[in-house]
Amino acid sequence: MTYLYLLAGENLELAEAELRGFLRSQGIEEELQREGRIAETESHPDRLKRLALTHEIAEKIAEIDLENIEVDYRPENSFAVRVENLREENVESKDLEREIGQELKTESNSVDLEDPGEIIKAYVTEDGILLGRIVEDIDRGLFQKRVNQERPFSSPISLDPVLARTMVNLSEVSAGERLLDPFCGTGGILIEAGLCGVDVYGLDIQEEMVDGAKENLREYGILSYSILQGDVDNAEEIFNGSFDAVVTDLPYGKASKKPEDAIDSFINLLEEFDGKAVFMYNEEEVGPYSADYEIYVHKSLTRYLYVV
Ligand SMILES: C[S@@+](CC[C@H](N)C(=O)[O-])C[C@H]1O[C@@H](n2cnc3c(N)ncnc32)[C@H](O)[C@@H]1O
Repeated sequence: MTYLYLLAGENLELAEAELRGFLRSQGIEEELQREGRIAETESHPDRLKRLALTHEIAEKIAEIDLENIEVDYRPENSFAVRVENLREENVESKDLEREIGQELKTESNSVDLEDPGEIIKAYVTEDGILLGRIVEDIDRGLFQKRVNQERPFSSPISLDPVLARTMVNLSEVSAGERLLDPFCGTGGILIEAGLCGVDVYGLDIQEEMVDGAKENLREYGILSYSILQGDVDNAEEIFNGSFDAVVTDLPYGKASKKPEDAIDSFINLLEEFDGKAVFMYNEEEVGPYSADYEIYVHKSLTRYLYVV
């Protein structure tokens, strides 16, 4: 069976990388193919709701010609057809939905636009129509419930939950593994990793952040965490253990008295670390590393994402 993943359109390379990282976190090594916003795989892992930059996943039914709607598949119960135009040129969506609906209709099934048993998605691409049956609809609005303003402890330094979750997925960390954020701030990354069932470890030099991050994690029902006050220099001694992933947002400007020292210490930490590290910074290069992705925040702020 083939599955179609509809990726968020804003940063396709990052969305594809997130999906690859997520698949690896689920023990799936297979290569995926991507054409525009649609990525195809043969696998359908659990925990699809972990994804931040994917809208929905559909089981592929057929590839059809826009001018010649012929499909063998017939839904057994009620269904609704929804068109998603992914090509430049306009499509008469309602007409196309009706046409595909008529093709799929039998005496024993029915069209139900309000509460369908199956949603059939028609992705219109430059090459034709990819038809699929939705198996997972990811409610990305849930991330909005965890934005800075919604948390009991908030601060402007906090990372957006969609970005934080993307970083967790890029790190390929699995449920039950150990993730360290050595500059945890308000806990933005720890919350997203904790919600994926990862055991989370956080460190911050400011006591206020440590208390606030704990409060935030409890708010979202995350119980397996250890968050301590300390300097990144001593991260290994403090936690006395090995980690499967390091995911963090490096301090800059006012967030730290001497950010350059903290960054040197972080680079030393990475040199000793043999797992996957994912971090965000405000410059395109740091120590021996060059950024992998550019993140446009607003007109005067671009951030850089590193996967090491
Ligand atoms: C960019 S903020 C992290 C924001 C965080 N991702 C969030 O969602 O809230 C960087 C954090 O690093 C902390 N920090 C600065 N220098 C540090 C050091 N030497 N060791 C540990 N933490 C440090 C700051 O207190 C600040 O909370």
